[in-house]
Amino acid sequence: MRSTEKAASAVSPGFEGFAGALLDWYARSARDLPWRVGPAERAAGTTPDPYRVWLAEIMLQQTTVPHATRYFYAFTQRWPTVEDLAAAADGDVMAAWAGLGYYARARNLLKCAREIAAAGDWPRSESGLRKLPGIGAYTAGAVAALAFGERAPAVDGNVDRVFARLLAAKGDWKAEKTRIASLVRELVPADRPGEFAEALMDLGATICTPKRPNCLICPVRDWCAARAEGEPERYPVKPEKKAKPKRQGEVFAIFREMDVLVERRPDSGLLGGMLALPTTEWSESGAGGRPEWAKEKGDEIGEVRHVFTHFELRLTVVCLDLEDTPEGFEWMRVSKAGDAFPSVFKKALKLAL
Ligand code: ADE
Repeated sequence: MRSTEKAASAVSPGFEGFAGALLDWYARSARDLPWRVGPAERAAGTTPDPYRVWLAEIMLQQTTVPHATRYFYAFTQRWPTVEDLAAAADGDVMAAWAGLGYYARARNLLKCAREIAAAGDWPRSESGLRKLPGIGAYTAGAVAALAFGERAPAVDGNVDRVFARLLAAKGDWKAEKTRIASLVRELVPADRPGEFAEALMDLGATICTPKRPNCLICPVRDWCAARAEGEPERYPVKPEKKAKPKRQGEVFAIFREMDVLVERRPDSGLLGGMLALPTTEWSESGAGGRPEWAKEKGDEIGEVRHVFTHFELRLTVVCLDLEDTPEGFEWMRVSKAGDAFPSVFKKALKLAL
């Protein structure tokens, strides 16, 4: 008998046999992902590199697998170890992150790599990992389980959805999330915690999807209360999202031969530490006012829109001619700047070109 089944009597009521069924399915159906050590390799004794596990987890927050994959290859090729990343120049890492969004992740990534390099090794427990910059409850659990085999849960939005369905969770969503977090912690099997986490990720991504869950082929359908009710896509039942506030402003495209005028945004705050085009302040009315050096009217050449976590932005793109270099700005090759810009400025630059 496998130890996952042996432990079944200790498992939460209603979930006997659940972990075993999920892991059997995972052994047959695991996705092949570049940061993953698959079930066959794990069985042969290969253990995952914590650096690759951690890097992938940070990249995958708020980002799809295909989009993160491109960046994962670029980062691991350029910085194959956490020590390499720790020794990188800030600007190089921020530029390599450009387009992935949520730039605080990149700043914390560097801080975290430097702490680990200075300490000489990774903390190998969920609680130790949790103390590192940019590592929250989910990431600490995921890295502890995937890379170090600790019996820790990795509960993100996808796992919340899967369990909201398994439980047909109808209560207040915040309270349900707390219930789910403690249930998952109880269910993690002692012998294969990493694969259990990966199996839940794969289940959420390929079968228990947000819109059309494919219950017919679900390995845990027998445990699923929402399926028994007949409408699993009703779950999770979350409070309605408020509409995002809107902000607006102007962004300046100023060229000199092959160069464009850029600034480095301050480290803290939105798009902190990223290379940027000059802009006015972004506000609800857009009445932030231009800096003294940008008083000339210029050519309004169009508009770009971008959705941030907390607001939607509409920027008017203005082309200006400028003789002097304003303080705090510099000229950079258009192609180099374009590569290093976050998406909103990539869009503005593209429009201006
Ligand atoms: N989503 C979050 N972490 C993941 C991982 N390690 N593999 C696949 N999808 C994920």
